[in-house]
Amino acid sequence: MHEHDVIVVGAGGAGLRAAIAAHEEGADVAMVTKLHPVRSHTGAAEGGINAALRDGDDWELHAYDTMKGSDYLGDAPAIETLAQDAPDEVIQLEHWGMPFSREDDGRVSQRPFGGLSFPRTTYAGAETGHHLLHTMYEQVVKRGIQVYDEYYVSQLAVTDHDDPTERTCHGVVAYDIKSGEIVGFQARDGVVLATGGDGQVFDHTTNAVANTGDGAAMAYRAGVPVEDMEFVQFHPTTLPSTGVLISEGVRGEGGILYNSEGERFMFEHGYANNAGELASRDVVARAELTEVNQGRGINDEYVYLDMRHLGEERIYDRLENIIHLAEDFEGVNPVEEPMPVKPGQHYHMGGIETNEHGETCIEGLYAAGECACASVHGSNRLGGNALPELIVFGARAGRHAAGKDLGEAEVPTGPSARSEDENSIETPVEPGAIDTGDEDVIADGAMVDAENLVQAAVDAEQRRVDELLEREGTNHAEIREDLQKAMTENVNVFRNKESLKDALEIIRECRERYQHVAVSDPSRTFNTDLIHTIETRNLIDIAETITLGALARDEFRGAHWRQEHQERKDDEWLKHTMIAWNDGTPDLYYKPVILEGEEKEYEPKVRSY
Ligand code: FUM
Repeated sequence: MHEHDVIVVGAGGAGLRAAIAAHEEGADVAMVTKLHPVRSHTGAAEGGINAALRDGDDWELHAYDTMKGSDYLGDAPAIETLAQDAPDEVIQLEHWGMPFSREDDGRVSQRPFGGLSFPRTTYAGAETGHHLLHTMYEQVVKRGIQVYDEYYVSQLAVTDHDDPTERTCHGVVAYDIKSGEIVGFQARDGVVLATGGDGQVFDHTTNAVANTGDGAAMAYRAGVPVEDMEFVQFHPTTLPSTGVLISEGVRGEGGILYNSEGERFMFEHGYANNAGELASRDVVARAELTEVNQGRGINDEYVYLDMRHLGEERIYDRLENIIHLAEDFEGVNPVEEPMPVKPGQHYHMGGIETNEHGETCIEGLYAAGECACASVHGSNRLGGNALPELIVFGARAGRHAAGKDLGEAEVPTGPSARSEDENSIETPVEPGAIDTGDEDVIADGAMVDAENLVQAAVDAEQRRVDELLEREGTNHAEIREDLQKAMTENVNVFRNKESLKDALEIIRECRERYQHVAVSDPSRTFNTDLIHTIETRNLIDIAETITLGALARDEFRGAHWRQEHQERKDDEWLKHTMIAWNDGTPDLYYKPVILEGEEKEYEPKVRSY
């Protein structure tokens, strides 16, 4: 068994930043990650990092844009924290050597992005995430922070108690991919989950194959509620044949969207008369699909994104990576022809409920980055707000886990944060108990010490892995494929009650079938079949929470459009959807949105661009 003060699970942007911050507080930190840090999905982030750095801009404007972008479902204390901390974090990156793109006068460049009232997106070409990862990984190496890479964390070691807020997390259990061993990691002070997104719930996504919602699913099963899971972002510009991202930076630099009639439809069909292509993502994604559905798409599937008019020199200077992506993955040279694009799953606004210090309701368990929901993005994230989220909340979670006092948090967590009027919402379907057949929290916490608890979790995981490897049964791939298809068909940009119910039925069939899953590759080492089998279980749990939340929310807000409910209903729905595991019976409840900021109350307004 390994023992450290702070264990960070995942080594993308949030994990690296958390590890550096905890180390700076004097903690003995280790990162445990299924991928080598520089292979993390943060490396695929293209467009940039929002931070109010220039004269004429300020954190209040950034916070206002983010709240409006969230369609008034973000929590003001978290949003204001993001906007206030982002400039210092970006300057810190600059000091660590991040190769930001620059103006002729030497200043870090900033470009316009969707939904922003000021061009505040700093960037490094169209490969900002790649440089972010390398810059922070250098700092991890420099500090001698221990990285256990190619260790797949599959279980948390959490004490049992009826009330999740009385549980404590003492560590994690991982499959050492190279040796095949099941290994325990005891955390003396805290575990920070930074496992990224869950785009593999869908079959057309910008996300890497590794993005399977592991952290969120583990925390959920250990008793932490997941928040606002129905809000999934579909990025407007992905390549049709692969889902590869074409950065919003293209539109930020002046790229134009056309339909099959050659119309600049964002303006000509009145989707966003002021911002046009730079409206927020939910607006642009719906506009594109409306064009396709009304017969003005190309090949009944996509629209065109054109950047030829920017000229070869500017394209190479600011967006070179886009040329390579379009050529390699779609066979199109965007200097000479428009790129076919369509919406694809990109980001999950929902996630593990945390406060603005990254704390969950379980003592010793933190989360940051895309797997978490500090409630910054509400029902729609603005482009360029994911990377500041990683560094701002990664740093805060790391510091707090290492013992730094960050003061009283304003965002409440755990079941006691419930809305008083929650009974006004009916559960959309019978939740139905699920035979989970696994041990997610370990025997009576009061009776065992931390080391024994982690060892008990290792033993339980070893039994599960042995059984998966030794028995005959269904292969996970069939289940995963059916799940992804059902989610893409039914829980996409446009949703209605019937299709959501269909999705839920298929998800539950997948859960039944998963009871008989088995791993066909019998080897113990480098067993990707085993990893994918465990991941598939996580995808099922995440898909169910997305769909349950979407069925219950009978209004249209941000990225959640409902055919039967074409308006935002602030009287009824200005609240966060919370889902707690409750021993396998998803328990749906709500908690109020906080619109009260440091100096002002954000008043929900009609959201137009
Ligand atoms: O379009 C992009 O470059 C993506 C940026 C983001 O998701 O923030």
